[in-house]
Amino acid sequence: QTIYRKDYTAPSYLVDTVELGFDLDPARTVVANRMTVRRNPASAQREIELYGEDIELVALRLNGRTLGEGDYVVEGNLLRIPNAPEEATLEIETICVPESNTTLSGLYTSNGSFYTQCEAEGFRRITYFPDRPDVMARFTVMLRADKDKYPVLLSNGNLIEEGDLDGGRHYALWEDPFKKPSYLFALVAARLVCQEENFELADGRTALLQVWVEEGNLDKTDYAMQSLKHSIRWDEERWNLELDLDRFMIVAVGDFNMGAMENKGLNIFNTKFVLANPRVATDVDFQGIEAVVGHEYFHNWTGNRVTCRDWFQLSLKEGLTVFRDQEFSADMIGTNTGRAVTRIDQVRTLRQAQFPEDAGPMAHPVRPDSFVEINNFYTVTVYEKGAEVVRMYQTLLGRDGFRKGMDLYFQRHDEQAVTCDDFRLAMADANGRDLTQFERWYSQAGTPVVQAETRWDEQAQTYTLRLIQSCPPTPGQAEKLPFHIPIAVGLLGQDGRDLPLTVDGKDHGTTAVLELTESDQTFVFTGVTEQPTPSILRDFSAPVILKHGYSDAELVHLFSHDSDPVNRWEAGQRLAMSRLLKLTGQVASAGNVVDRLDLDDTFIDAMRKILVDDTLDPSFREQALLLPTESMIADQLDVVDPLAIHLARQFVRADIGARLRTELLAQYDANQTPGEYSPDAESIGKRALKNLALAYLNAAPDDASLALAQQQFDGATNMTDRVAALSALVHARAPAAADALQRFYDEFQGEALVVDKWFAMQAAAPTTDVNSVRELMTHKAFTLRNPNRARSLVSTFCAGNAVGFHAPDGSGYGFWAEQVIALDALNPQVASRLARAMDRWRRYTPDLQAHMKRALQQVAGQAKLSNDVREVVGKALAN
Ligand code: ARG
Ligand code: ZN
Repeated sequence: QTIYRKDYTAPSYLVDTVELGFDLDPARTVVANRMTVRRNPASAQREIELYGEDIELVALRLNGRTLGEGDYVVEGNLLRIPNAPEEATLEIETICVPESNTTLSGLYTSNGSFYTQCEAEGFRRITYFPDRPDVMARFTVMLRADKDKYPVLLSNGNLIEEGDLDGGRHYALWEDPFKKPSYLFALVAARLVCQEENFELADGRTALLQVWVEEGNLDKTDYAMQSLKHSIRWDEERWNLELDLDRFMIVAVGDFNMGAMENKGLNIFNTKFVLANPRVATDVDFQGIEAVVGHEYFHNWTGNRVTCRDWFQLSLKEGLTVFRDQEFSADMIGTNTGRAVTRIDQVRTLRQAQFPEDAGPMAHPVRPDSFVEINNFYTVTVYEKGAEVVRMYQTLLGRDGFRKGMDLYFQRHDEQAVTCDDFRLAMADANGRDLTQFERWYSQAGTPVVQAETRWDEQAQTYTLRLIQSCPPTPGQAEKLPFHIPIAVGLLGQDGRDLPLTVDGKDHGTTAVLELTESDQTFVFTGVTEQPTPSILRDFSAPVILKHGYSDAELVHLFSHDSDPVNRWEAGQRLAMSRLLKLTGQVASAGNVVDRLDLDDTFIDAMRKILVDDTLDPSFREQALLLPTESMIADQLDVVDPLAIHLARQFVRADIGARLRTELLAQYDANQTPGEYSPDAESIGKRALKNLALAYLNAAPDDASLALAQQQFDGATNMTDRVAALSALVHARAPAAADALQRFYDEFQGEALVVDKWFAMQAAAPTTDVNSVRELMTHKAFTLRNPNRARSLVSTFCAGNAVGFHAPDGSGYGFWAEQVIALDALNPQVASRLARAMDRWRRYTPDLQAHMKRALQQVAGQAKLSNDVREVVGKALAN
């Protein structure tokens, strides 16, 4: 059933201490839980309320007295003890079966060892507990297990004692000095090895840092360790936040639902975000590791020390921590363009995934008002749009003002469970500002649209910018009120330089942050002596859709000169998008054949100019030359024909490849990175541009381009170049592709994360249809039980191969339904993510829609379905 934010009530009982004893056995783990509880004065409720799920209750004692049937009530997952005293010691014994826990929530086994995942509500699958984030307790954990099979026993906080037991078993006792909500509990019992070192903290203390992995992976831990040390330093330097423990551990596990988890002192990671060396990991993998290691580490303050009152406040920790990891990654590069390129990446993510979410059946505010299953709300809206909301405070208040707000937030709320409003109030109070209207960013779903109209008055030498904002309706929210939107604006003169800006007699330098608060508002720049070109929404100052009737000439001017690299890039995207939309229309009306299409010189020339401009960072040039994705194009259309979009975009890629061949070849040569591989920003940028050149050249492949790809594949000394070459061959449908794929598999079959890449590359190839995916599913390396593997093939096909998935006969949708149902029986969280591939089914052509609806109904009609999947398909069909 649906849970509403407005129904929040304080917990009836608080927990001061928890002592957990684990007798770990894959088939039958016994958990003993002794906790001291006391009535919460802030609650009128007088019953103790504990949650438990999929666990067997063996014994329940209150102050030493065994409770019988009549002493408590179990309803579903809720166990209530009425007539409880003000204070009590509860002792609970339960049994769970980790080896048959395929949900990967709670205590489970992966490759025979024990791991946990408790966020959001997994702790209740381990023991009965008031499993809600506003109940914070001090944990002591005793682990007992077979010493031979599980030589390493880890939990949160500090290791107090360890030793041997009878029967080949051993134990370890852990104590976490900080009180924490149950979702931050973790344990690991496994055969692992670690890279470790002592690291000096800002106050002179040293902390023991460890990265734990399976034996064969010790050659892939350096980068994670380095990223952890950078994260610790950065948090000290930028926010004055220190590591508050003597020990900080990262553990990599091959079966994991999400990216990673910030358990206090014991971060557990998907191997994907830990393991890397040049042989097996790409530049993007290295960047992902730095970002996620940072993200989880930064949660120690934004999430753990200050946590969420309830799950509706999830973005309080996630939006803020994503913002922090974004700033970390940008600071690690340091250069202006480097920062801008990370920003461009963020904008691409928003457009690729968040804007569509905001416009679909699952649209929800950054702080949702209701949910059926909280796991469905770990979304791009809560995470990435939430980070944009945090960034807007910094844009409005300035870096110093934002820092003051952060300081006040920690001063007020350390060791508390709080709300998004508490964060906003800290920002407002620290800066003496009224941020009441800003609250709408948390409460209203949907992407605001800002329409800009401009007028230069030559006589008065004024430039008038009129901004009109609106926001489309979303499920449950028909009307929207105006948002408080920071709009950063610059004006380019005819020579391409920024004009000085004066508004209301105030000097704004060359970029003014205007505050749009009304639905229709006008700003007047004075002393504007020439007709300028407006650069609006610099640095993407707000997560909105900006509409302005730019001419091609203006866009070319911005693309050539804008001092703001994000808007410079944006001008290129606008030029490309207008062409892509027009061509898509032409392809569709020709019955999805590419016939007599034409790309204008203006566009090609603009692209050429950027491509060959050696004063620009390769990383920026690569971004500037990347076309909007098929899904971004789809998002602009009322009726989506995926094949038409694909063909139009492929035509543009091929035309760029053919007409810029000489320049692309020159850049291919100029951006080689010989010598030892290094994942620094400059080398990454060069490889990115070089490999984009290779991809374009092979979008219209001639023998020379194919030979180039083959040669790069054969000679590659790092995974980035190897997969780029392989992907060029596969996408070019080169005769040599099959052989290259086979060789790639043979060489890397022992590396699970590379095998994932191998499946994903084939799943995404436009030559792949349902039948070839089914064929791949019979490969000995395929299994639905491992989330990374299932995603690499099934999800990549359904969400990343528009041509194959949207086959006119509906076969892709039938396959989707089958896989959602199969996965749901194993792992509802993974199934539910896959289910979202159908989110925007109402936008497709009528024939496709009909097929999609049938597939959705097939899933919805299943007798046995998880809450996770039921919510997603239910909302898709209802909205
Ligand atoms: N808090 C984790 C992170 O953002 C995500 C874990 C979510 N897990 C889940 N099953 N919902 O780093
Ligand atoms: Zn997070």
